[in-house]
Amino acid sequence: MTYQHLPAMPNEVVNFLNCQPGRILVDCTLGGSGHARAICKKISPDGLLIGIDQDRDAITNAKRVLQPFASHIRLFHGNFIRLPEFLAELNLTAVDGILLDLGVSQHHLEKSGRGFSFQKDEPLDMRMNMQTSETAAHYVNQLAESELHKIFKEYGEERWAKKIAREIIRIRKNEKIETSKQLARIVSSVIPNRAAREQKIHPATRVFMALRIAVNRELEVLDRFMGQITDFLNPGGRVCVLAFHSLEDRIVKRHLKALEKGCTCPPALPACGCGKKPVVRLLTRRVVRPRKAEIAVNPMARSTRLRAAEKI
Ligand SMILES: C[S@@+](CC[C@H](N)C(=O)[O-])C[C@H]1O[C@@H](n2cnc3c(N)ncnc32)[C@H](O)[C@@H]1O
Repeated sequence: MTYQHLPAMPNEVVNFLNCQPGRILVDCTLGGSGHARAICKKISPDGLLIGIDQDRDAITNAKRVLQPFASHIRLFHGNFIRLPEFLAELNLTAVDGILLDLGVSQHHLEKSGRGFSFQKDEPLDMRMNMQTSETAAHYVNQLAESELHKIFKEYGEERWAKKIAREIIRIRKNEKIETSKQLARIVSSVIPNRAAREQKIHPATRVFMALRIAVNRELEVLDRFMGQITDFLNPGGRVCVLAFHSLEDRIVKRHLKALEKGCTCPPALPACGCGKKPVVRLLTRRVVRPRKAEIAVNPMARSTRLRAAEKI
């Protein structure tokens, strides 16, 4: 079985990454290989695409979808935080462009059978990498009320976080919470009807997103990776990040601004003492959002926030 993911902002991505024949690009989040295909077309005939995904399904899929470019791609299963290791396997230390398209793919939501979607009745797993240990069911059945509350509030910005965490604790005294529908029902039972109607999204949306972020340690990994990203870029190399969550975008923005500024001395200091120089030039002074015409054909792209920079 192959699957495709309608990529968000594909033209902007290949332009910001300055994809040209002969360049070496890394797609850190292959997913359905939508962006990867667009990049391969631009860097052909002599470029190289290094594709990474922590979900083995995405790697299996990429082998098929990217078959026409087979001699110009190298695929790695694992977390993108392991990029230096993957580059070393190819005798490389730096590349011309790095893409991060964060979050889940359509495959995760629609076909993976791993409980990412509250619309389906599936085992509550939510791991992108099936080789990591703790599932969403583990979190929901084992974590203390205060920890669940924190996850729902911080990662989901869920107004009813406290009540939902309390209800989970009450229910799990009598039954294990094992499926996505079970969890969706518990969350829906807690949120008042009026509030649910006002939100215009399914009542379980925020809780599911928060759990997924926690299970996959998405924000920690992004923060660590953004702190090192320019180490893996050649001068003139580009980074382009698509975020879907305000917390992700905040991390990307903070790192890129710091890299642009260089100096970390307090503003009150008369002269720079740290000696740190700017490392990047921002290509997007403000966040770039998809155009209305794109959202009309690809509604999943509506909350995309794109930022890009070039290493000096
Ligand atoms: C939004 S999808 C990417 C879609 C892709 N750009 C396309 O056009 O089809 C995100 C993908 O990144 C993967 N992913 C998320 N975080 C990751 C990480 N830290 N390391 C490796 N892969 C990750 C997920 O498994 C998922 O397949």
